[in-house]
Amino acid sequence: MQSSLIDRSGRHISYLRVSVTDRCDMRCVYCMAEDMVFLPRQDVLDFDELERLCAIFIRRGVRRIRLTGGEPLVRRGIDDFVGRMGHWLQSDNSHFDTRGKLDELTLTTNGSQLPAHARALADAGIRRINVSLDSLNSDRFARITRRGRLDQTLRGVRAAREAGLSVRINTVVMAGVNDDELDDFIRWCGETGADLCLIETMPMGETGEDRRQHYLPLSDIRRDLSRRWTLEATDVRTAGPARYVRIAETGHRLGFITPLSHNFCETCNRVRLSCTGQLYTCLGSEDATDLRGIMRDGGSDDDIHTAIDVALAHKPARHDFLISDQNGTVQGPARHMSVTGG
Ligand code: GTP
Ligand code: 5AD
Ligand code: SF4
Repeated sequence: MQSSLIDRSGRHISYLRVSVTDRCDMRCVYCMAEDMVFLPRQDVLDFDELERLCAIFIRRGVRRIRLTGGEPLVRRGIDDFVGRMGHWLQSDNSHFDTRGKLDELTLTTNGSQLPAHARALADAGIRRINVSLDSLNSDRFARITRRGRLDQTLRGVRAAREAGLSVRINTVVMAGVNDDELDDFIRWCGETGADLCLIETMPMGETGEDRRQHYLPLSDIRRDLSRRWTLEATDVRTAGPARYVRIAETGHRLGFITPLSHNFCETCNRVRLSCTGQLYTCLGSEDATDLRGIMRDGGSDDDIHTAIDVALAHKPARHDFLISDQNGTVQGPARHMSVTGG
């Protein structure tokens, strides 16, 4: 039996984020360049390759898998793949090795394709999804996403709720862009029955935007919100880096993801698999291990296990993202988040 995944800082890896495609129907200003060039399709893992790697991680103790992208729901055949992955949630899975079993399968999406997919996600055993939504104003939404339509994403959120999925709204807070909308977001999430998670923008890849212009530390935002809302302490955690409070007035949770102002790397429990089969042990690092190469060269599962062990031995203690006003530094990897899956 293979050993569980523990890095040199003693962190247990139980969460795998899987980017199933680098493509997206939007071009959010903090995520992609306007004229993004996507990867040739043959570079992207097919679903058998993806499932093989997921199965290997599950055998090593991964208990949660989050499907991301790009936009996972624009990949053709995604419903079938989610259905296949859903089988790993069941303990009496006879046609697979029963040593591994997932506690949770989740998905992060921009919501635009949810009307057509929400039911299939719920049927596969997904219980909660995270939906990116950075403005409730349709003109702004169009500016931020460059291609998206607010009404389509809102329809997607409704479809997800109707299919019985819990929804967390992910909002990247940007100074002068959407930081005046947070009260609206809290109210709207209360009415919609969704949690809300605010995220600091991370400098990954060239997007044509000046990262310094929009960066806002969320500690300031939290202080400001607490003047108008009752933010109650809670020890509720999802598997990710968000720290939550409960908003007494709405009964819903408000999360904060603060990679820059207050990094959470000490408790990191995750690694990520890019859509090209590169294993990244840290979102903020360029270091990757080419698992696709091993598979396509006819490598065995044991070869893949060995490569994972070597990669894990080099997992950085922390990311080195930096946005600093004082000396104008912006530091982060050159690759876009859409390839790695945030
Ligand atoms: P939950 O399972 O619901 O807790 O999900 P999550 O917050 O881990 O996932 P989601 O895809 O919604 O990501 C929200 C934000 O957190 C995105 O901006 C991600 O890039 C960021 N994020 C997730 N994991 C990490 C991480 O390990 N390091 C950093 N720096 N950011 C992360
Ligand atoms: N910084 C912070 N969050 C980002 N996301 C995409 N790019 C960035 C970035 N540069 C968010 C999306 C989505 C999640 C997967 O990551 O809004 O909710
Ligand atoms: Fe697409 Fe999400 Fe990136 Fe926006 S943040 S361009 S929706 S992958």
